[in-house]
Formats: sequence, structure tokens, C-alpha cells
Amino acid sequence: MKKLIIHGGEYLLGTIHISGAKNSAVALVPASLLSDDEIIIDNIPNITDIDALDEILTYLGATIERIDSRMVIKSKNIENKEIPENISKKLRASYYFMGALLGKYKKVEMYFPGGCAIGKRPIDQHLKAFEALGAKIQIEGNKYRIEAQELIGNDIYLDCASVGATINAMLASVKAIGKTKIHNAAKEPEIVNVATLLNNMGAAIEGAGTSEISIQGVEKLGKSYIEVIPDRIEAGTYMILGALVGNPLTIDNMIPNHVESLISKLKEMGVQYELNQNSITIWHANEISPTHVTTAVYPGFPTDLQQPVTTLLAFSNGISKITETIYENRFQNVEYLNKMGANIKIIDDTLEIKGVPCLYGNTVKATDLRAGACLFLAGLKAHGTTEIENVEYVLRGYENIIQKLSQVGAKIELQEI
Ligand code: EPZ
Repeated sequence: MKKLIIHGGEYLLGTIHISGAKNSAVALVPASLLSDDEIIIDNIPNITDIDALDEILTYLGATIERIDSRMVIKSKNIENKEIPENISKKLRASYYFMGALLGKYKKVEMYFPGGCAIGKRPIDQHLKAFEALGAKIQIEGNKYRIEAQELIGNDIYLDCASVGATINAMLASVKAIGKTKIHNAAKEPEIVNVATLLNNMGAAIEGAGTSEISIQGVEKLGKSYIEVIPDRIEAGTYMILGALVGNPLTIDNMIPNHVESLISKLKEMGVQYELNQNSITIWHANEISPTHVTTAVYPGFPTDLQQPVTTLLAFSNGISKITETIYENRFQNVEYLNKMGANIKIIDDTLEIKGVPCLYGNTVKATDLRAGACLFLAGLKAHGTTEIENVEYVLRGYENIIQKLSQVGAKIELQEI
């Protein structure tokens, strides 16, 4: 078990460099096995989710070379064998091996994925996409056996704009016979990143980033290269940190239009910032105006920044509301923020946040990845020392967090317990 120890109340000054996007990298790595040739992925974040995917690919027989943030993957000799439950449970993104192995071999056997306990998180839309392409699905307990005589292009109508189902539908259809159209597709930038890798391999995908994606099946996918886009959620998390304690804090290697919804909220709250081409400089706000936030699919306000922005609104000079529309159990951070002195009520899918002048360090627990982010933000602003247990969650999504925060003046350390 690991815990973060944070001595709060320091203003932070300097630059934080954003890493490659976790939610892009965790799809690009499984997607690479669709090619029989070498795939080079640059700007891979050094986080534990990538280690788990490396383990699955190696288990299947791929050869992987990791040099700094470059990953070279050769999948020529992989064996399409069952992925055991203990490794597929390590992360939500293991489900991308369903789409990739089905797309390449027309067969896959694996277990229901893992991931943060922020809701039921079914995969019915993924299975609906596979069936639309002609696959038969057998479910025995947590185990899925998915097989097709042939994968035939088809229209896939997603009931919800699911990120994972959109990517899995692309992975399963790139080598299908004929044309596939995904309707009500998710539009997140990570989807565009994956479509670019697949097209670089020789796929024929159009419309990624819009709600209508068309894929013309091809015979073969070859050698390719991709760079992981900057992580908009890591960037957003550190932008919120700048609004809390920036003196100022510059976040660089980020793409401003990927975080437009957060920037507009920071403006509403009266936060001072300076926007450049691929960086933003943010000063701590002495007065934070209350506002209302409702999470939505991209380009709406991202659910992954709902918990971090709760910390910022906990200090506002009024009453704010946050409505979570994507997940049914993403408020587990609230009890710990209140333990630190916040005044937040949960009313169904909405938080009512009465701003307080300050928070106080305490011993708290990360219940999921972005709840952990909310708490380390609170600890960095609070008076006194905060200890965050179960911090393994945070290490899944924030690369080199100790080094990145210490070099701008944070008093933070990681302890084994
Ligand atoms: C991706 O999860 C991200 N994870 C999540 O980030 C992110 O919160 C989410 O997209 C939404 O942006 C990765 O990319 C690995 P969804 P995913 O399918 O694909 C329902 C983080 O903190 N749904 O868009 O699982 C589902 O229950 C993580 O980095 C179905 O009902 O998200 C949820 O309510 C957390 N049936 C909603 O859609 C399905 O088949 C959004 O899910 C699939 C999803």
C-alpha cells in the first residue's frame, strides 16, 4: 500500500509539462496488435495502466521494447489465447483487446474488464457493435467468448456516445468485409488519436471526432507510428491547481481547445489566466465566484474533471452546483473533502457546494482515480498535513506526480505502508 503525504498551503511557481493522454495510450497499445508489423508509439505516459497492458501483450506473445516514452510493439507472433481474469481485471481498458483480437482473428476469449468503481459501467454497447458485425457472443459468468465466421461491415447505432464502445467498434471493423458506419459515436480527442494510428497502418476511417464515423474494411494493416496526444484531464487537473495555489503555474504541452469547457468555467469563476498556443499560465484566485457545472460527453464539461473542480468550488464565496450526468457513483470523494472542512451536500445526481474560506489537512482515502486527484488538490491548498491512502489509484493516471509537483514547490512525498 502507498500513501501521499502533503504539507499544504504552499503557493506553487513554475511549469508543469503534460504527459501523453492515459485514455488515448490505453487504446493505442491494444490497437497495435491489429498490425503484423512493427508499431512505434511515442509520448506514452509512464503509468501503471500501461504496465498492465504491456503485461497482457507480452502474455499473448508480442515483443515490446520501452525506451523512455517510446514503445515499440511487434505482434507478428502473438497467440490468440484466453486472457485470464486476474490481468483483464486490472483496468477498464483491457476491453480494447476484445475489439482488437476480434478484428484480427474473428475470435476472442476474455473476462469483464476492471476499472474505477464509479458506476455499473456495462459493456452492452461494445457487444451490440460486435454483434452488428456478425459476431456471436457467449457469456459464462464474467467470461466472454466472442466469435464470427466473417466480420461484415454494417450500421452500428450506439444508444449512448460511449468512448470505449466507439473505439472498440473501430477496432473490430477495420478489417471487416465492406463498410461500417458508427452512429452516435463519441467525439473525444482520444478517438481521433486511435483513428489516426489505424489509418497510418492502412485502415480507411473517416469522421473520427464527429458523431458519424465510417470505416471501409481493408485486408491488411502494416507498420505504423503514432504520438500520443497530451492528456487533457491531467492538464485540466493542474489548471485547477493553478487556480488554487498558482503563483503563477504554467501548464505546457497541452492543447487549449481540448479543455475549452474548463477554461470557460474558470473564466466564470473569475480565475486569471494567460492562454498561449500550447500552454496556459494560471494565477491563484483570491476570490472564486460560485458557478454551476454539468458534466457531458465531449466537448461538454468532462466527467473526469468533475471531482477535481469540486475542490476548487469548495473555496468559492457562494453556493455552487455540480450535476454528474455520466456516472451514477462518482461522488465518493465528497465525504473526504467534508472531513477536511468542506461543506458539500449530495442531492441525487447533484452536489450543492457551500464555499468555505479554508480546508484543513486530514487523513483521507482515494476511492478512485479522479477522487484521488480531488484530494491531492485539496491537500496542496489546505492548512496542515494531508495523508491520502490507496494512492495507487492516482498513480494509474498521473505520471511522475511527485517530481512534477515538487519541482514547482509542493511539499509532497510518497510513502510505502
Ligand atoms: C472512458 O471510459 C474513460 N476511460 C473514462 O475515464 C471516462 O470517464 C469515460 O470514457 C467518459 O469520458 C478510458 O478511456 C479508459 P464510456 P468508458 O463508455 O469508455 C455507459 C478516467 O478517470 N456505458 O464513455 O468506460 C457507462 O456506464 C476514466 O480516466 C453503457 O451504458 O466510458 C457510463 O455511464 C474514468 N454501456 C457512460 O456510458 C456501454 O457499453 C460513459 O461510458 C458503455 C458505456
